[in-house]
Amino acid sequence: MKKIFLNLSKQPITNSYLKNINSSTLKREFFYNLSIVFDLNNYLVSIKKPVNPEKQYTDTYAHRASQSKTMNLSFKKIANKLKKKFRPTLSMEIGSNDGVFLKNFNKNNIIAVEPCKNLAKITNKKGYLTYDKFWDVNLAKQILKKKGKVDLIYSANTISHIPNLKEVFKAVSICLSNNGVFVFEDPYIGSVIKNNSYDQFYDEHVHVFSLMAISNLLKAHKLKIIDTEILSTHGGSIRFYVAKNDSKYKISKFVKKIQNSEIRGKLNKFSTYKKFSLRVQNSKKQLVKLLKKLNEKNKKVISYGATYKSATVFNYCNIDKRLIDYVVDSTKNKQWKYTPGKHLLIKPPIDMIKEKIDYAFLGAWNFSKEIMNKEKKFIKNGGKFITHVPKVKILR
Ligand code: TMP
Repeated sequence: MKKIFLNLSKQPITNSYLKNINSSTLKREFFYNLSIVFDLNNYLVSIKKPVNPEKQYTDTYAHRASQSKTMNLSFKKIANKLKKKFRPTLSMEIGSNDGVFLKNFNKNNIIAVEPCKNLAKITNKKGYLTYDKFWDVNLAKQILKKKGKVDLIYSANTISHIPNLKEVFKAVSICLSNNGVFVFEDPYIGSVIKNNSYDQFYDEHVHVFSLMAISNLLKAHKLKIIDTEILSTHGGSIRFYVAKNDSKYKISKFVKKIQNSEIRGKLNKFSTYKKFSLRVQNSKKQLVKLLKKLNEKNKKVISYGATYKSATVFNYCNIDKRLIDYVVDSTKNKQWKYTPGKHLLIKPPIDMIKEKIDYAFLGAWNFSKEIMNKEKKFIKNGGKFITHVPKVKILR
């Protein structure tokens, strides 16, 4: 049975930046109700009614994983680690985006799966065998027939985007070799609860995983978690190493350790999520109060990073042009468009001092270190950043 614990109101598709604002674009803008449920049987946290993936992963998909230095480095590191540890003959990535992970592999030894056609084109052009399709049983069979079994399947921030996890794991078990490893990483519910980062919930994050939930789901597919890591990427993620039940791998001690910490943190109890929901409502009140106060003092406030997360914050808290002047983002294809739902203009990075910015809300709070490093001059000049994670505050 699934029970709702959080209602984040009507939300747009986070990736649908508007090119212009007029009656026809506004009429076409799609909204859905973002309610979050907890499954009392397997402990999985999910969106109650996910958006149809065909609406989300289109050929205008804006996000480019290679935009951030932090992410480039972290993909290079994990690619090298996996190559060294598992020595795969054939690898595959599910959700390869613009190839930020793939580029660390020899073109002949890795397959890319990416349903957004604009992104698939990028890796295809670079010579990587790329399937511009959604990951499912049919595709797994097709790949198996053409290339044989795969030794390493990697996926970052993609598995949690797929509504039907049964299909995902079934497809994986079809083409994974006997001692192959399926490594995937996605936002971690333990970090969401700890950081009060309710903005991890948006249309693409159909599920936010715990180790207990994944462990329960894998059972039906004769797959097991052999190792896990808690990561700082994306504001707190979990990486799972999954293999077949009868593979050569033993389960690492860390799996038990994380499982115990989840039990201690009561991630298997509905009451934990209910309490979290109250903290989220309070966070909304605090953020709106702070922004209103700054507005009354005629402070110039912008938002840094046109992130999907900030779409959840702005739409849930009803923050629009009255409270935030505009948004800056380094991603070219987000620039000079408008944020979904609240329609804030997205500008390229600016000289924050010249533009007389007083405060910048960290829409990309998960990159706060990288951003604060970049904007040292702004800070030195008296400029300040605002965050809502883990609590609403002005960073000093
Ligand atoms: P993400 O959290 O979904 O990866 O999005 C991060 C966004 O923040 C992405 O659009 C790029 C933007 N960004 C900047 O504009 N400047 C920066 O310095 C960093 C690190 C990110």
